[in-house]
Amino acid sequence: MGNDLEKVLYTEEQIQTRLAEMAQQIDADYAGREVLLVGVLNGAVMVMADLSRKLQTQVTMDWMAISSYGSGTKSSGVVRILKDLTTDILGKHVLIVEDIIDSGLTLSWLVSNLRSRNPESIEVATMLRKPEAAKVDVDVRYVGFDIPNEFVIGYGLDYAERYRTLPFVGTLAPHVYSS
Ligand code: PRP
Repeated sequence: MGNDLEKVLYTEEQIQTRLAEMAQQIDADYAGREVLLVGVLNGAVMVMADLSRKLQTQVTMDWMAISSYGSGTKSSGVVRILKDLTTDILGKHVLIVEDIIDSGLTLSWLVSNLRSRNPESIEVATMLRKPEAAKVDVDVRYVGFDIPNEFVIGYGLDYAERYRTLPFVGTLAPHVYSS
């Protein structure tokens, strides 16, 4: 990616090590119960693939695609469903899998939407969280890393749909998005 990258925040190895720790914690918490992992497209694809394969817990998988209304800023909190779950979550243990929690507005909407469908339980796992950007408080049980409020890319995270496939998380050089 040439000099578009400013710095690496977390290497591939650090990410995979942290995911293994999170998987252990999830396995201990759910002990013997089956879990429905709900991935939020598109960014969560990488976390879902890697985290799910580190779990001993019996899991099934489903996906939602959601988008914010308005000016393209993703923090309006007004969300529409582009692709809904294919599964009925009634009575299931649901674990939402996210790549990043920024303002928390998307997740806050998603949790209340899914809660209204009466799952047995609902928790959240995210690879990254930006505490300084939080606009609402959302209870997140599993957090990979808390990061500063910077523009991050890689490991599912994009800038204009690019860089999602990088195996690490980095920050983008300002010249890329300010030009
Ligand atoms: C990202 C991320 C979360 C949301 C977090 O998705 O996957 O769903 O933004 O932002 P918030 O906490 O401020 O609501 P995005 O809308 O960029 O879509 P993508 O996953 O397809 O990149």
